[in-house]
Amino acid sequence: MSILLKGGRVIDPVSNIDKVMDILVEGGVIAEAGDLSKYYKSKDIEIYDASGKAVTPGLIDIHAHLREPGFEYKEDIASGTRAAAAGGFTTVFCMPNTNPVNDNRAVTEYILKQAAESGACRVIPIGAITKGSLGALLTEMGDMSEAGCPAFSDDGKPVASSEVMRRALEYAKTFGLTIISHCEDPALSAGGVMNEGAVSTRLGLKGIPSAAEDVMVARDIELAKLTGGRLHLAHVSTAGSVGHVRRAKAAGVSVTAETCPHYFTLTDEAVSAYNTNFKVNPPLRTAADMEAVISGLADGTLDVIATDHAPHAASEKAVEFDLAPFGISGFETALALSLRLVETGRLSLKEVIEKLTVNPAKALGMAVPSLAPGARADVTVIDLGLVRTFDPADMLSKGKNTAYAGMTLTGWPVAVMCGGAWTFKA
Ligand code: DOR
Repeated sequence: MSILLKGGRVIDPVSNIDKVMDILVEGGVIAEAGDLSKYYKSKDIEIYDASGKAVTPGLIDIHAHLREPGFEYKEDIASGTRAAAAGGFTTVFCMPNTNPVNDNRAVTEYILKQAAESGACRVIPIGAITKGSLGALLTEMGDMSEAGCPAFSDDGKPVASSEVMRRALEYAKTFGLTIISHCEDPALSAGGVMNEGAVSTRLGLKGIPSAAEDVMVARDIELAKLTGGRLHLAHVSTAGSVGHVRRAKAAGVSVTAETCPHYFTLTDEAVSAYNTNFKVNPPLRTAADMEAVISGLADGTLDVIATDHAPHAASEKAVEFDLAPFGISGFETALALSLRLVETGRLSLKEVIEKLTVNPAKALGMAVPSLAPGARADVTVIDLGLVRTFDPADMLSKGKNTAYAGMTLTGWPVAVMCGGAWTFKA
């Protein structure tokens, strides 16, 4: 059945539209947009009243962990994509640190099959850069790209060898693929569990210096320059990294970068009660780093907001801080947290929507989403005025390891459509 989204504030960054209008969805695509009052009384059309709500292209998350295959006790493709839909997402790129690692066509095909059968949004697998993500032998990127991987990453781990990273960028370039770098110097970060600084000293926890990230960002930018390969930097968390990326872009290097909501809403002070839900890698940094990340988002240095959705079982997080796994379950709070940047006047609403839709698509070479007639009907309806106190009990993700329990936020997704079919309604 056709669906008419009636009277919403349509925000479509690529068409430069921000205007109240109707949208008609038919056969999985946007059929018409504008004043469609002629259809209001039609019996064959489902009317969704979007008045007072924002209507945007479906959100795209280019950095998530769906945990299947191998870690289904943390999350699986069915639960993860339902949580993604509840967070406003219609497309999710999943990282390859599963078991087995997504380092060959068979795993890629398995993920796509599971997603087709049980996914509540589009799932695009990211392949591993090296076999087993062990940092030594490159994967068959051409073969995996044919199977459906548009980008490659050893996320969770850095590619420690500069030589291997150089070859990865060169190899990926021959197929027009993007390398996503988890920037961490393992020698500098070894044994660290939080940001290195005054707070880690006070808490008696081993720190990870910001230099562990900064040196790898600098290295990978140099390697992108050397090879001409397409580089995307994952989860940028430090002022140093933001500076490196800003200068690289000014010099014309082919690099894009993302940050995650926890890096622009929390600092290492959050770790003070040893709550393992604040243990994430890279770690929460200082107020100065947070300010630099927000400035980087505002001036376009950081192109993308990605969740790094990293669900873990409650039993895994209910241990000493040193022993808990890194990660925050992020799908279901990402949009509301991002909208705080608008509330505080740091970014415009259009900019935030761009960083959650158009820019992630561009960074990984996906068709740019739009709400213009002919476009695929991936749509997110947002109630910008809805105030909600976040309760982990409401989460659809198996991983309840949120850093935002009890936080009151304004602006939540209320309806989501993927390929013309509803995938979430609040
Ligand atoms: O906090 C994190 N969790 N950072 C990563 O790089 C990996 C991720 C995970 O897989 O849990």
